[in-house]
Amino acid sequence: MKFFVDTADIDAIAELNATGMVDGVTTNPSLILKSGRDILEVTKEICALVKGPVSAEVVSLEADDMIAEGRKLARIAPNIAVKVPLTWAGLKTCKTLTDEGHMVNVTLCFSANQALLAAKAGATFISPFVGRLDDINLDGMDLIGDIRTIYDNFGFETQILVASVRSVNHVTQSALIGADVVTAPPAVLKKLADHPLTDAGLAAFMADWAKTGQKIL
Ligand code: G3P
Repeated sequence: MKFFVDTADIDAIAELNATGMVDGVTTNPSLILKSGRDILEVTKEICALVKGPVSAEVVSLEADDMIAEGRKLARIAPNIAVKVPLTWAGLKTCKTLTDEGHMVNVTLCFSANQALLAAKAGATFISPFVGRLDDINLDGMDLIGDIRTIYDNFGFETQILVASVRSVNHVTQSALIGADVVTAPPAVLKKLADHPLTDAGLAAFMADWAKTGQKIL
């Protein structure tokens, strides 16, 4: 399963990228706002840092404008995935840009039927938002399982990119279901390495090592 980082914070991306855990990056208008950066500038920097797909989102609502924005974003770097919302205009944009050879990430997906439409439009990625479904007392991970089944039933190659990830359990469940990608905020990705027994074991090893009086370096 691939890990994407869900942020436009270049320092956070660089820190995680150095561990080899970053297979791509996702951004959205809210994350661009949070970064305080110009979308074209920061996206270019991210694309230079990370080899894998970097999602950059269009902000128009009409297909013609979305397509023009998508083409402009795609010119930033070859690893841009143009992100479009799951509306009919977004699906038309997806079909057009996919036919032109661009990667497209269809976002704001909240149902299996929406995911089916995105796959039929040729999306490279579908982004179901699990955390926001959990927020309204539905089970976001049930949707991931349903999309996995539907895509496997028909051999769709659209990759399931689990988004709105809030916890390490979302990551585990995504891996068990067989999602292709999880995009998570840096803080969630960092927590994946945490375990109290690792901390306790390391503390015991360090205490014993100090008693040996030895050094390796
Ligand atoms: O990848 C989409 C993500 O940025 C949305 O997350 O936590 O705002 O629902 P959240």
